[in-house]
Amino acid sequence: MDPEIERVTRSKEQARTSYNRLSRFYDLLSAVSERKYIEAGLEMLRAKEGERVLEVGFGTGRALLALAEAVGSSGEVYGIDISEGMSGIAQRKLRKKGLAERVELYIGDAARLPYQDGFFDCVFTSFTIDLIDTPEIPAVLAECTRVLKDGGRICVVSMSNRGPVGISMKAYLWAHRKLPALVDCRPIPVRGSLEESGFDIIDKKLMSMWGLPVEIINGVKPGLSGRDL
Ligand SMILES: C[S@@+](CC[C@H](N)C(=O)[O-])C[C@H]1O[C@@H](n2cnc3c(N)ncnc32)[C@H](O)[C@@H]1O
Repeated sequence: MDPEIERVTRSKEQARTSYNRLSRFYDLLSAVSERKYIEAGLEMLRAKEGERVLEVGFGTGRALLALAEAVGSSGEVYGIDISEGMSGIAQRKLRKKGLAERVELYIGDAARLPYQDGFFDCVFTSFTIDLIDTPEIPAVLAECTRVLKDGGRICVVSMSNRGPVGISMKAYLWAHRKLPALVDCRPIPVRGSLEESGFDIIDKKLMSMWGLPVEIINGVKPGLSGRDL
């Protein structure tokens, strides 16, 4: 791991409390920023009818709804998130759309996934790996590897440290240091982290969020080939 990646100074308990507080406003706050990157990630992952999918850090459920539609009534979606506040909002939305039956939510830590080895066809995660502390990112990705089938896919959407540190990045990092509870995601080496964790990269996209790089990386757990093979 690159030693210059900002460390996370708050505890998991503080992260949980912070997201519990934010949960009621989260959709409002994130609507203009995160939506199109999540959509691009879902498009890249291409969850299929009948698949079993896990979302790590599902937040208020924006991607869960789309994943539940994509896998259909023969598929299953699971989600893990540390905040019961975020989970409550996600659960309400799933019920409202009549999708709650095919989605199982769990409140817990991404570093300890409560699922058996090789359980999932794919894993999706957006704007969550980038708020995990640097030494723990490989542990979270190792857990994702463990719960994926051989040939299973992972799509990570995350703030990225690719490219030069321009004025937007300097301003963002300043805000991140001043208000780490609110501006909590920080840029990380997304593709490199997945490669170091043993994933074969099958697709990638670099986007910009107000001048800040966002990487969308689709990887495959080696074994069988990932997509339709
Ligand atoms: C920035 S939000 C992103 C939510 C959603 N993925 C999205 O893109 O809208 C990060 C989410 O990760 C959750 N989270 C933070 N640390 C976590 C951890 N260690 N394990 C599981 N979830 C975590 C938070 O509760 C929050 O819901």
